[in-house]
Amino acid sequence: MSELQEFQGAATIEKVAALCRRRAFVFPSSDIYGGLGSSFDFGHYGVLLNDNVKAEWRRAIIQEREDVVALDSAIILNPQVWVASGHVAGFSDPLVDCRTCKLRFRADKLEDSACGRRPSKRPGEFAECDLTDPREFNLMFETYVGPVRDSASAAYLRPETAQGIFVNFKNVTSSMRVKPPFGIAQIGKSFRNEITPGNFLFRLREFEQMEMEFFVPPADAADWHAYWIDARRNWHLELGLRPSHLRVRAHGPEELSHYSSATSDIEYLYPIGWQELEGVANRGDYDLRQHAEHSGTKLEWIGHDERYVPHVIEPAISVVRSTLAFLCDAYDEEEVAGRPRTVLRLHPRIAPVKVAVLPLIGKDAAMVEKARPLYEELRKSLAAEYDADAAIGRRYRRQDEIGTPWALTIDEQTLEDDTVTLRDRDTLQQERIPIGGARELLLEKLDAPWRPRE
Ligand code: GAP
Repeated sequence: MSELQEFQGAATIEKVAALCRRRAFVFPSSDIYGGLGSSFDFGHYGVLLNDNVKAEWRRAIIQEREDVVALDSAIILNPQVWVASGHVAGFSDPLVDCRTCKLRFRADKLEDSACGRRPSKRPGEFAECDLTDPREFNLMFETYVGPVRDSASAAYLRPETAQGIFVNFKNVTSSMRVKPPFGIAQIGKSFRNEITPGNFLFRLREFEQMEMEFFVPPADAADWHAYWIDARRNWHLELGLRPSHLRVRAHGPEELSHYSSATSDIEYLYPIGWQELEGVANRGDYDLRQHAEHSGTKLEWIGHDERYVPHVIEPAISVVRSTLAFLCDAYDEEEVAGRPRTVLRLHPRIAPVKVAVLPLIGKDAAMVEKARPLYEELRKSLAAEYDADAAIGRRYRRQDEIGTPWALTIDEQTLEDDTVTLRDRDTLQQERIPIGGARELLLEKLDAPWRPRE
């Protein structure tokens, strides 16, 4: 596995963020009020891209398997859940204050800190931060349930979706035909009051997680852990991430979360350096035992001649970290015929729009008459977009920037022989195809293996 330290590509976080804003992927949240730190809203193409990432996760984790079932648990759970899980006591990061710049940082991530001012007593000069001793800061957002604000009504916004799965273990095993090894998967919002969020979508306070708890016989836990590290790494590769931008790193003992007996991170080489993309943890029987003890409900597997508390393997990733990795990997700049081109070389399965239908001359009634029915037919089976505004070159560029892999152009020749040109986003090659076969051909291309990246 490559240990390249340099991001291979044209992307920087700033360039990707600028494209995302320009092309309606991501907007700063509450923008007209000056925004809210590290909070983002997703525009049309961002919603489609995120939905495709989630659909691919569901396809790989649930649809194409027989041993994983779905769940959608509540965001606000009984607060005892978080006592039992250990989050009330231990879900914290070490916080330090800077006495000079008055900002707060994570003591264990000082290299990420954004103390840009570092003011000195003398104007124009910079001084080092003067940091307090670290103290523990719990990352859970607190709220109140019901009309009375007192300690009895205090509750938390969930900081992970996983606990909603553990507390449903009994419901699922008694209502579904499952037997270890089996998994329960869910996608949903999680909330963490991060001390130093930042780097665009990388670390947010509100983000969707895609998590799966895979319950296995204790003796098989190590093998399943290795299995899921491999399976999840391959998922990222199959959807187009460069192999040289992915690595697996096992946590050292001092790094392990309170629930974990072994964790490996699948790391991605973002333009800001190697960072956790996805964690794959062996949680042992920690969670089921904790909830059994605190709730008084037995949480175990009872088979014909066996009875045990399953161990749990957990692949966990957020949609935004995945989307950001796909965007950084896909972002490219090049010169075509002496003019700069920005292109998102997204895997077609996650591209927000699969095909653009473009009448060469937008005001030509005969071309429009051919183009509209083609577009209306295609959009029944594929995310398609119709664009008749502006010069054709500008329309191609717009589609390149949102990562549309194919464009069908209706021109003079279409009016004569019912063929259209099919333009490939990456090779820029154009071929003529019969208009009647366009849908089938595109669906075939969408299913075909993707060109491997270096
Ligand atoms: N249930 C286990 C768990 O939540 P985690 O390592 O804290 O483990 C899992 O989080 C994944 O969630 C991470 O690998 C990362 O993809 C994502 N994640 C965690 N904190 C995040 C944040 N503040 N912003 C965006 N994504 C985050």
